[in-house]
Amino acid sequence: MRVITCKNYEEMSKTAARLVAGQVSLKPNCVLGLATGSTPEGMYVELARMYQNGELDFSNVSTFNLDEYCPIDKENDQSYYYFMNKHLYSKVNLKPENLHIPNGSAKDIETECANYDKMIDSAGGIDLQILGIGSNGHIAFNEPEDELTAGTHRVELTEDTIKANSRFFASESDVPRHALTSGMATIMKSKKIILMISGKNKSEPLKKLLTGKITTSCPATMLNMHADVIVLADEDAMNG
Ligand code: GLP
Repeated sequence: MRVITCKNYEEMSKTAARLVAGQVSLKPNCVLGLATGSTPEGMYVELARMYQNGELDFSNVSTFNLDEYCPIDKENDQSYYYFMNKHLYSKVNLKPENLHIPNGSAKDIETECANYDKMIDSAGGIDLQILGIGSNGHIAFNEPEDELTAGTHRVELTEDTIKANSRFFASESDVPRHALTSGMATIMKSKKIILMISGKNKSEPLKKLLTGKITTSCPATMLNMHADVIVLADEDAMNG
């Protein structure tokens, strides 16, 4: 695991965008694994700027997002589909047929999850996965548990996560109690991973990650078993 300390959020965002741009230049038809949340927003701004300046072409890129609330309609302004459309899809030349997010309103959840993993495999696997982290150490929506799940699956959100994510909703009771999430194996099969960590409230899970110990009570620590992870942490997270 390579850890890069960035001065602040802006530097972390620009560094992440440069790494994504490097991946796209190297392999124009690459498969990107994308994340939502406040952490990657600045990276998306930078990627959109690079595209608008003619520095990046997404026309052959495919994307798979990590997770989606369940149940939720994609038109709902709190859905992760809505987030991605606002921050990336509407700003760059990704082809609609190449964008993937688990369908949070699917009738048959099991089939939806199984098909999602199959689609990633058929696309050749994820070349570069972007991750954020929850303050309880979750990645995607793989919450701290005695057992973690390998493939894409439906999960019950923890109180911590509901509370943390309620800032985007009118009230805490509006936060969906479930989500569809990539599993730990779905994430670990990615060829490269960039984990973005920003802010004092993320210093605890970052500390746990850096001990090199692996525990399901902090799912991000599993990344210690992956051969190609870059952690981009800002000074607030590092020193917090
Ligand atoms: C959410 C998402 C994660 C994200 C995390 C942190 O619940 N499911 O993919 O990394 O929480 O979000 P934020 O970047 O807003 O702190």
